[in-house]
Parts: sequence; C-alpha cells; structure tokens
Amino acid sequence: MTATSMDRLTGFGLGMRREHYRAYIEGTAPVDFIEVISENFMIDSGRPLDTLTKARANYPLALHGVSMSIGSSDGLRSDYLARLKQLVDIIEPTVVSDHLCWTGVDGFNSHDLLPLPYTEEALDVVCANIARAQDTLGRAMLFENPSSYIAFPGAMTEWEFLAEMAWRSGCGLLLDVNNIYVSAINQGFDAQAYLAGVPFEVVGQIHLAGHVKGEHLLIDTHDQPVPDEVWALYRSAIERAGAVATMIERDDNIPELDVLTAEIDVARTIAAEAAAHRIAA
Ligand SMILES: [Fe+2]
Repeated sequence: MTATSMDRLTGFGLGMRREHYRAYIEGTAPVDFIEVISENFMIDSGRPLDTLTKARANYPLALHGVSMSIGSSDGLRSDYLARLKQLVDIIEPTVVSDHLCWTGVDGFNSHDLLPLPYTEEALDVVCANIARAQDTLGRAMLFENPSSYIAFPGAMTEWEFLAEMAWRSGCGLLLDVNNIYVSAINQGFDAQAYLAGVPFEVVGQIHLAGHVKGEHLLIDTHDQPVPDEVWALYRSAIERAGAVATMIERDDNIPELDVLTAEIDVARTIAAEAAAHRIAA
C-alpha cells in the first residue's frame, strides 16, 4: 500500500464554471469549496491560471482530472504527470481526483471515460498506476466511479473493485451518486446493494448531477438539475457516509449561480436530516 496522506474537503461546493468566474474571484459565491477540471489549467501561465489562483485564494479547491487514464495498460504518461504535479505545486489543492476508467491507447486520447473490465488483471494495472501517480504527487488521490453503458460479464462488481482498489493502493474514493443511479438503471443492478458495498471510510467527496433519458439508456449529461431519484440515493449514501464533502456537477446548460446554490441548499438539508438516521458502518 502506498504511504500517502489524504486531506479532506468539508461542506458543500460547486464546479467552477466560466459563467460564474467573477463570483469566485470576488469570493461572493456561497460555497465551501470549488472544483475545476485539472486539464483546463495544466498550462505554464496566462489568464486561466491567473483566474484559478485568485479563486483559490477564496476557496479550498479540488482538482478533478478527466484524462489520467488510470486503467491504461500502457501505464501513465510522464508528461501528463509532470504537468499535473506542476499545477498541484502552484495551486495547492485539498483534493486531486480522476476517474476509474481508461481514455486512450498508443497516444490517442478518446476524450471519453471508457469502462474497465473489473478483473484481477485490471486491478493490478490500476493499482500500479495509482501507486505511480500518488508517488509522483506525494499524496493520496480520489478516484471516481464512472457512469457506464456496458459491462463485462463474469467479473467482480464495481463496488467490489472500488473497495479492493482503495485497500490495495491507499487511494480514496470520489463517489458520484448520479453515476451509480445511471449505471444501476442501465445495467439492472441494485443501487442500494452498491451502497452497501462501498467502504465509506475512504470516500472523500460526493458528486451529484443530472442526466437525460435516452431511448434505451440513461445518459450522464451534467446538463440538468439533480433529479428526485438521485436525491433519494444521496440520502441513502449520506446515511451510511456521515458528513462527506458534497458538490453539484453542472457542465452544460449552465443556469444562474443562485439556481445551483439552491441545489446545494437541498443537499445541506438532506445531509442534516440524514445525520439523524445514520446507519452504523
Ligand atoms: Fe462526477
């Protein structure tokens, strides 16, 4: 197991999106932390980094990556790790996260979060890659459960894989409740069974988001309000988890900031109510 420490965010946050930059720079957004997509700021200098530096002065920050490709059997790219480390050193985030997926092969980046087979072989690859990433950054990372549209038969469940991955590698988990709901509907598994298998003691952050209903599948679009079904699953998760930093992910069809902070208020209320019904681990 990699010897790394894991800092934790607290409270309720939002993804920092361009439409609301001014509120974050001025420190007027009523959130406890912010999250940004790491790759948008993995640059040497310029206005985006200047904006992030100003916002970081006002809020604890999560760096959330989309293309580390932790499941890649090619191993991690040295140039990517070096640029991420440079950003981490500049911005000093509380949390650095990415997704349990693979995104490319032979230098080709698909820009999609592609699913892994949940096998022992894949677990070995993922844990070796996590060890390298955490050693490079000198800290534990969080890895997020993906939304999925296909699954590989005969393998372990996603929650079994996540638990084993966290235990072996020392990483934490970023639990996306919307992704659990989307995958559960698409693949026909029981979302409550998923929650019962999650090692909540290593869950460092929770994502909430919306999705759309396609002809045959739910699609994880992040362009809608959090739906009632996801709020209900969040309540179940937080009854098991206790207080875990929670944020709303909204990446498209961005509303006014107060619409998103109203969703945060719903999360605050559910978390407070769930605290009274805490399920013992
Ligand atoms: Fe997410």
